[in-house]
Amino acid sequence: MSGHNRKQIEKCRTFGIISHPDAGKTTLTEKLLLFGGAIQMAGAVKSRKVERKATSDWMDIEQERGISVTTSVMKFSYRDFEINLLDTPGHRDFSEDTYRVLTAVDSAIMVIDSAKGVEAQTEKLMEVCRMRNTPIITFINKLDRDGLPPLDVIADIEEKLQIECTPFSWPIGMGKNFKGVYNLYRKELQLFTASRQSRERSGTTINDLSDPRLDELLGSQADELREDIDLLEGAANPFEPAQFLNGGQSPVFFGSAVNNFGVKELLDAFVENAPCPGPRETTTREILPGEEPFSGFVFKIQANMNPAHRDRIAFLRICSGKFTRGMKVIHHRVGKEITLANATIFMAQGRTNVEEAYPGDIIGIHNHGTIKIGDTFSSKEPLKFTGIPNFAPKLFRRVILKNPMKSKQLQNGLTQLAEEGAVQVFRPRLGSGYILGAVGELQFEVTMARLKNEYRVDAIYEPVELADARWINCDERKKLDQFISKNQAGIFLDAEDCLTYLAPSQWHIGYVMEQWPEITFTKIREYV
Ligand code: G4P
Repeated sequence: MSGHNRKQIEKCRTFGIISHPDAGKTTLTEKLLLFGGAIQMAGAVKSRKVERKATSDWMDIEQERGISVTTSVMKFSYRDFEINLLDTPGHRDFSEDTYRVLTAVDSAIMVIDSAKGVEAQTEKLMEVCRMRNTPIITFINKLDRDGLPPLDVIADIEEKLQIECTPFSWPIGMGKNFKGVYNLYRKELQLFTASRQSRERSGTTINDLSDPRLDELLGSQADELREDIDLLEGAANPFEPAQFLNGGQSPVFFGSAVNNFGVKELLDAFVENAPCPGPRETTTREILPGEEPFSGFVFKIQANMNPAHRDRIAFLRICSGKFTRGMKVIHHRVGKEITLANATIFMAQGRTNVEEAYPGDIIGIHNHGTIKIGDTFSSKEPLKFTGIPNFAPKLFRRVILKNPMKSKQLQNGLTQLAEEGAVQVFRPRLGSGYILGAVGELQFEVTMARLKNEYRVDAIYEPVELADARWINCDERKKLDQFISKNQAGIFLDAEDCLTYLAPSQWHIGYVMEQWPEITFTKIREYV
């Protein structure tokens, strides 16, 4: 590895934010970008969210595409670190993309609303983080409002998410009585002032909690803090970097994103402790980021502004080597060499003429539908990165074609949309028709609108009594055949011809799993 590359890798942090809607992800993103000096971008994040909320039909989604390409990867620099923040779509546009983005990050920040504790969407996203043991830093937000006692929030995280918490800071009061936080590692007291504008506050170093300045600054709450810290010293887990790096322990910060309070401490701890790009598994061997040859995988595909041209951008995470504009790489699934001439390189604010990108960076490759999610590109060796999965959908619709003459177009459209990861497509093993599967409602809307606009297909949805899916397999062919013949109505093939069992309820899944112990039922499936 050249010395230059090593420095680029060590100083890179690629992460995503996981949270339940309304916990404060957008607000925190804005504040983080402010620290990176990307002030204009900060406004853009909020206004984009407003647009998303207002999004009601296809035209709006369409207009939004241009914006969402640029906000899919927000790159900023902080201290001497280069940070890639990958957007994890969350509200109406929650989709499989949200999950898959997490396969391209090296760490995550989890935002929890202090009044709500762990909520459903956070639990789902955490499941995905656990697949790769992604290190997670926790930010407990909205301390300026009355919430749950801090120890209860921590207990909730530990119990529901099965991750050990280690507080880095501790709050003093909450709501109207919120005085600030005490940083347990820096021994620094940060006093809270409500302000949506300010960017930084200097703290007071208080090494010894018996210091009378604490009483001057906090009044009667000084003793409360002393008691809390006393309790923590006996009960809290000390920070163990190795455990954090394998996803077993999460440093916890308290603050108020909207008041930009506690955000700088979070960001400092993040750049100092979160990992730089590491090794990645392929079907043949592990790839180290410092290896000279270029390699990377596609984790997201986005239809671009001009649907008539079927113009797509494939988001590729670089895993090794250096990307330079115009370089030639091999697209292994189709065995073709392509020149990466018009790739989009996401740049930190204020940077121009960047022509290179490094491991941990994301580049956007323009194409007309030749690239699939999960595809690997590399400069030499044939490779296939693993760990870019399909996730079992929870929502289902049957597609009914209004004009039977268009069945070829419908098939083409669905194949293409499935390859992009826009929606999952299932065909009954016996019989005909299509069932679509998704994890977010908006996926259905987008699919229908795109079938109409791009493939001239006029179709409607019909509700189906399906609630869950599992990919099925068995070493013993005979057993599998038996299972199939006994459960015909639930057996489907997905877009890559993999056998899937679709069930009307979760209870059914549990039941058949019990009845058929020889069959493996999986919630995720790797792209082939
Ligand atoms: P999300 O992206 O996770 O969905 O959450 P977002 O940042 O949009 O925040 C959701 C709401 O919570 C927003 O209020 C936001 O202002 C508020 N919020 C975020 N951080 C804090 C905090 O530290 N304290 C308090 N009290 N509120 C916070 P909104 O009413 O939807 O928007 P706005 O009118 O405030 O802009």
